[in-house]
Amino acid sequence: MSKLVVRGRKPLKGEVAVGGSKNSSVAIVPAALLGDSVCTLDNLPRIDDVRVFAQILRDLGAQVQMDGTTMTVSPNGFASYVAPFDLVRKLRASYYLMGVLLAKFGRAEVGLPGGCDIGPRPIDQHLKGFRALGAETAVEGGVVKLYASAGLRGAPIYLDIPSVGATINIILAASRAEGTTVIENAAKEPHVVDLANFLNAMGGRVQGAGTDVIRVRGVKKLAGASHSVIPDDMEAATYMMGAAATGGDVLIKNVITKHLEPVTAKLREAGATIDENGDYVRVVGPARPRAVNVKTLPYPGFPTDAQQPLVAVLSLADGVSVVQESVYENRLGYVSELVKMGARIKVEGKAAIVEGVSRLMGAPVTATDLRAGASLVIAGLSAYGTTEVYGLDIIRRGYELIDRKLSELGADVAVAGE
Ligand code: UD1
Repeated sequence: MSKLVVRGRKPLKGEVAVGGSKNSSVAIVPAALLGDSVCTLDNLPRIDDVRVFAQILRDLGAQVQMDGTTMTVSPNGFASYVAPFDLVRKLRASYYLMGVLLAKFGRAEVGLPGGCDIGPRPIDQHLKGFRALGAETAVEGGVVKLYASAGLRGAPIYLDIPSVGATINIILAASRAEGTTVIENAAKEPHVVDLANFLNAMGGRVQGAGTDVIRVRGVKKLAGASHSVIPDDMEAATYMMGAAATGGDVLIKNVITKHLEPVTAKLREAGATIDENGDYVRVVGPARPRAVNVKTLPYPGFPTDAQQPLVAVLSLADGVSVVQESVYENRLGYVSELVKMGARIKVEGKAAIVEGVSRLMGAPVTATDLRAGASLVIAGLSAYGTTEVYGLDIIRRGYELIDRKLSELGADVAVAGE
């Protein structure tokens, strides 16, 4: 099993450029299948999730070329509504194939999604949306089967929770439906807006993305388009946390600072000094972070994906922090790994009570999911001794060139076990 070996106590210093947003890319890459001609996507992150998606598109018959951060997708040859099961189960976001295949063929067969192990992640809101648009839904043998025998028709859809995945999936399915779909209580995350911008560049008519009411007027045809994916806010947040935990000084480039506001505000409260200016953010970590309380919420609240990295910072803080996870049922399992490093954290229901300690000690630990991996790496960077973070392959699903970027910031990290 591959691992990242981190020798800690070196403050992160220097500059790092973040890549394109993982969560945008995994929606936009399959959406490129909806055009009648070639799409060119740029600023894609160099991560496994994007590579797997490229292979899924090829398996569906499309022609895909990748060159660094650029991908061209030609839908020529795309003729199958059955997604390849062995690839689909590798990533959570393969559920976007449901919306795409439904929009294109009026039917879809997609295996239930895989991805991070952070407790139950139902897709009932996605299916509710598809049904409202006129599709029959069934789950048979671990495969979601969707069929709109009379085609898809626009409809009003109220989401019980502002699910990012359901919002995007419904936009995708509705993009070529007959008539108008109105999604209420829609997710407002930046990548919902990015997808809407891409579809609109293809000739789609998506209005209101970024608010909680999104209107999608279905169009008969979508064309190819060029699009540059937004920067990855969670990759940026992770380097911000790394600077804060190590007393470092890091300039993070290629960001949209607006998307980072909740993280910036919390890190300032924790004692970090933060300068921001449109497309960069500079974080100077405090000698010792201060304890803060935080509750994860849908955007623009504090993001659940930054919860785990933040807890690594707070495990070293002066005082007791209460971190409430309100988006997921079970996203605190990783704290037992931080405890192996000397952190004092108790989990009570969906809250972590973090009693800051003055030092963490290196230990062998395992990343159970992507952001847990980021949390353990940050803890390792600030810990005494050597931390071996197992599960590097999970971390690479979402963090491009992580060992190289950390080395360039002065960290002592090495990849082993490959
Ligand atoms: C997306 C992000 C993920 C982030 C999450 C919340 C992608 C590829 N992933 O995941 O990084 O952690 O948003 O910001 O963009 N839920 C239901 N029924 C549904 C759908 C969701 O109960 O049909 C629940 C989920 O279990 C979870 C909550 O709603 O508790 C939020 O999920 P959702 O916003 O859908 O997250 P994802 O789209 O899976």
